[in-house]
Amino acid sequence: MKAPVRVAVTGAAGQIGYALLFRIAAGDMLGKDQPVILHLLEITPALPALQGVVMELNDCAFPTLAGVVATDDVNVAFKDVDYALLVGARPRGPGMERKDLLEANGAIFGPQGKALNDHAKRDVKVLVVGNPANTNALIAQQNAPDLDPKCFTAMVRLDHNRALSQLAEKTGKHTTQIKKVTIWGNHSSTQYPDLHHATVDGKPALNLVDQAWYENDFIPTVQQRGAAIIKARGASSAASAASAAIDHMRTWALGTEEGDWVSMGIPSDGSYGIAPGVIYGYPVTVKDGKYAIVQGLEIGDFSRARMDATDKELREERGGVEHLFAKK
Ligand code: NAI
Repeated sequence: MKAPVRVAVTGAAGQIGYALLFRIAAGDMLGKDQPVILHLLEITPALPALQGVVMELNDCAFPTLAGVVATDDVNVAFKDVDYALLVGARPRGPGMERKDLLEANGAIFGPQGKALNDHAKRDVKVLVVGNPANTNALIAQQNAPDLDPKCFTAMVRLDHNRALSQLAEKTGKHTTQIKKVTIWGNHSSTQYPDLHHATVDGKPALNLVDQAWYENDFIPTVQQRGAAIIKARGASSAASAASAAIDHMRTWALGTEEGDWVSMGIPSDGSYGIAPGVIYGYPVTVKDGKYAIVQGLEIGDFSRARMDATDKELREERGGVEHLFAKK
């Protein structure tokens, strides 16, 4: 067994938390040879419920669970952490304007960014799941001036996995036979699920499906999948979101497979003409814990328009939260 690493999870008593913690503790995220110490953060009123979750974690007697810290103090939660999964966020309430939502989340992700800056390991890997995930990640990053901006990422892996599943169903193949799918942009309905470079069993995906299905069925289904799940289940995706968070972190820690890539929301460096700085979904490969944007992909007019639309939304969101960034 290796030395334990510390993994922080915020919103730990919520529904994604409940689907996530047991899998992290069981070694699904970092491997069965990597013990973890969980650092669980909740708001004060949720601490009794969190204690129940801690009791259950202990009752699983997982070989890879080396300890649990449960707290409502962000500075304790992020002390020396190697990984941080920021799941807890303020949902949009009735009558709440987008501006109010961004403001309420700024009050969460600003202080969390600062606490990561002050207490986390210098190479901490941060994944923001709580919505609006890309812009919440940007707020946290902009309050952590001493950390590498590349430490901060947002989750578009659930959208990536949804795209795999839709294409597998359509082509009658398994998701493992599909490579090089991309989710560009924001984790919102403007995201662009791109199949132009994807292959199914080694063949170009777009040769196997017709353009009308791609445009009028596949893209909207992936974009609207979150809403479809809320309608069917009466609650937002939780187990699939937790599973995607595990996939995102496992890939970041352990790397991508040869001949494939994944989608991650990462700080734009201007690649593919996207505004530098916004947290944008890109195709990435990962090696030795470092991600790199896949370069040199051909982008046609169809893709260009959609990539720009989701970039525009992210620039607008950034415009609404710039006053929450730490002064430079
Ligand atoms: P939930 O409401 O069941 O749980 C959220 C938990 O966060 C609650 O227990 C709450 O007490 C806690 N919390 C709130 N503020 C906090 C703070 N400042 N510090 C620590 N904990 C805090 O929500 P659920 O279903 O677990 O979803 C969590 C977030 O994930 C939501 O914002 C949701 O929209 C988002 N989400 C993102 C997805 C993605 O693909 N990026 C997919 C699905 C959900």
